[in-house]
Amino acid sequence: MTTTTTEVLPWNRPLLGDEEIAEATETIRSGWLTHGPKAAAFEQAVREDLGVQDTFAVSSCTAALHLALLAAGIGPGDEVITPSMTFCAAPNAMRQAGARPVFVDIEPVTLNIDPAAARAAITPRTRAIVVMHYGGHPCDLRAFRELADEHHLLLVEDAAHALRASRDGIRAGSVGDLTVFSFYANKVMTTGEGGMLAGRADLIAKARLLGRHGIDSSAWKRHGKGNTADYDVTVPGLKYVMSDLNAALGLAQHRKLPAFTARRAEIAAAYTDALVGLPGLTLPAVLPTTEHGWFLYPILVDPHAAPIDRTRLAERLLAEHRIATSVHFRPVHTLQAYHDAADHPLPVTEQAASRQLSLPCYPAMTGHDIDRVTTALHTLWA
Ligand SMILES: Cc1ncc(COP(=O)(O)O)c(C=O)c1O
Repeated sequence: MTTTTTEVLPWNRPLLGDEEIAEATETIRSGWLTHGPKAAAFEQAVREDLGVQDTFAVSSCTAALHLALLAAGIGPGDEVITPSMTFCAAPNAMRQAGARPVFVDIEPVTLNIDPAAARAAITPRTRAIVVMHYGGHPCDLRAFRELADEHHLLLVEDAAHALRASRDGIRAGSVGDLTVFSFYANKVMTTGEGGMLAGRADLIAKARLLGRHGIDSSAWKRHGKGNTADYDVTVPGLKYVMSDLNAALGLAQHRKLPAFTARRAEIAAAYTDALVGLPGLTLPAVLPTTEHGWFLYPILVDPHAAPIDRTRLAERLLAEHRIATSVHFRPVHTLQAYHDAADHPLPVTEQAASRQLSLPCYPAMTGHDIDRVTTALHTLWA
């Protein structure tokens, strides 16, 4: 659907169609709504796509992060290295597990966690590294796998932005001991709300137990067996499973993911072609041998070289051109709950965060929508 110039072009909008409606209708008609056959089929689709040992479909990426840490036994007294240039979900999960997030700086080109900074932050209390693939550009997967192995650390990939991306021939999400994905409404594919845990079978088995109250068999497996009290609770768990209704959307969306990603890449290429050379504007780089997932098209606006700063640019794009944008992210160490949490300098994070703006970049956009954005930027730079 093409937007007119008087309508706001949203920063993001999901793309759902008849396939999602058919899957959801089938689920409603089946009478089985909670975690069951659709969740199992969705788990299988992602497991086979990534080539990982196991997957567990859950209610959100945040739930997956919490389960990942609990399943690995990370808790009080443990330190977890992670970027501050991320969403609060991973640090919040660390705190909820009783562990301490240790924020390290990012690389200036990809805005991904810097392996050298992570190495420098390792202490005897470090138990894990949670990397994040910023905007869909994978971080240095080889370097982080080596670092984790060298220091016997758990490696978790927060791949909320990168369900379909790769670097050096390695698929994001296939390297961590555990990986978490998000299917929140604005992500590269959506289940409305939802997440997936992927990775080592031994850890996923623990997460599955913890995410199902600690009950040692699933409701679907008990269903129809007559004796619903025939279960035990072996650990005090939580309730984090994905419903079949959400999984039904996931199945249809996952089949479309290659086409969605191709369209995102087209939009990104069109932006780069049209915007390259504007003074003070840094466009997202793609390192060689990288397949970018293009969840975000993040630009950086240098207030000393551009005619406008980031905040004013966002305001004028909306007020004068009816184009919505977003910021990724307010660094976590600048949030109130984390005001005392930065014990390493984070100069690259702070500068990038003050300059960053995410342009609309999603498959529901038309060519006209793309032209609106590029024309508006040229007008504001004139
Ligand atoms: C990097 C990152 N991790 C985790 C999350 C949390 O995802 P969810 O809303 O599915 O819990 C997000 C959400 O935007 C995110 O950007």
